Amino acid sequence: MSNDPLVERAREAALKAYAPYSRFSVGAAVESVDGEIALGANMENACYRLGICAEISALTAARQAFGLDRVKRIAVAGGHVGADGRLTGAGPVTPCGGCRQAIYEAADLSGIDIEVISSNGDGTETIASTIRTLLPHGFGPASLADAGD
Ligand code: THU
Repeated sequence: MSNDPLVERAREAALKAYAPYSRFSVGAAVESVDGEIALGANMENACYRLGICAEISALTAARQAFGLDRVKRIAVAGGHVGADGRLTGAGPVTPCGGCRQAIYEAADLSGIDIEVISSNGDGTETIASTIRTLLPHGFGPASLADAGD
């Protein structure tokens, strides 16, 4: 267990992952500047390359719930769901490159350097970072604006 409630929400979300191929369940919890929370989990597909990550899933839900421009923090947790239905093991799950790009988009919209908390399955090991640290010199909406018209 973690003492950060957002990490606990991400762990809870991971239990609703659909990951029959990798058997690696990931959950993500996005928090708004006002404390609202949107959840997501990875959802795989028999056509393997069509699977989507937990972070993208949660950001899509956040867009509906409160808007990408109000995202403040995101927690990610992953591991294996055991026979007892609990998420355990593995090291902290840091967002893949594509997910960093998606988080960067939200950060660029809000001007907030979104905090990213990565957790292992049981919430006992976490890494706290920010999107600008995880994706330095990123390309986002502001880059397009800089190009002029
Ligand atoms: N996965 C995520 O959901 N988020 C990440 O940032 C890393 C990877 C998922 C994708 C796939 O369903 C499984 O974890 C194994 O790669």
